[in-house]
Amino acid sequence: MKSKLVIGNWKMNQSFEQAEDLTTAIEDALEDFNLSTEVVLCPPFPYLELVTDHADDGAHFYAGAQNCSQFTNGAFTGEISAEMLVSLGVEFCIVGHSERRKYFGETNAVIAEKVNRLVEQQLIPVVCCGETLEQRQNNQQFTVVEEQISETLFHLPKEKIEHVVIAYEPVWAIGTGETATPAQAEEMHSFIRSLVEKKYGTETAYNTYIIYGGSCNAKNAVELFAQENVDGGLIGGASLRADEFVQIVESAETSVSEN
Ligand code: PGA
Repeated sequence: MKSKLVIGNWKMNQSFEQAEDLTTAIEDALEDFNLSTEVVLCPPFPYLELVTDHADDGAHFYAGAQNCSQFTNGAFTGEISAEMLVSLGVEFCIVGHSERRKYFGETNAVIAEKVNRLVEQQLIPVVCCGETLEQRQNNQQFTVVEEQISETLFHLPKEKIEHVVIAYEPVWAIGTGETATPAQAEEMHSFIRSLVEKKYGTETAYNTYIIYGGSCNAKNAVELFAQENVDGGLIGGASLRADEFVQIVESAETSVSEN
């Protein structure tokens, strides 16, 4: 069974000092493990170097950004390019988060461009998809997710898609305390894997990471990660507490060794 992937998305939280304490606490706690799980910390941009410095010093995690520009470089005030992220030692980047879609008007077309910039720089895009509550109530979740995935990712050639992480994050579960049940998560993850399989074949579909996000915490992670098609988690609120985040990583380890 392949190892799991656990990504902490700190969103727009933490002072520099708090970020330093959180990074150190996670580093210290993970030091004792012989981890197979891949762990990624995604702090706000100004703290990325803090995380890459720890990663360079041998910490058991990688650094990830929460967003990047769809443009390569130039006169785009306030933007951060994929190339800049690489120059800092960043290896992952979240794109298409529902908060970016909702508050910053990001469309599938813009997200596809961001994916392209990241792939050009050999960064790993963590591409988010997921339906709203209304869409689920209208039973549109599969159509919505299929459209998001095909419009943001399916222009990529086969050899690139395996280096993309897909994060299924039902919007109704993000920051609400309401988690998708393991069965709901598994149903959507296996649907997403079948889409990748149809387009790119069985082996590529197996190798592509599909992780779950939305009120994932130390209590529910074990069961979620035990699902056949759930390859790990994208953790928001619970990634801001070192002890809870590390427990989630432990759940990922356990779910692999038990299978
Ligand atoms: P949450 O956020 O864990 O706080 O629900 C997950 C995310 O938005 O990535």
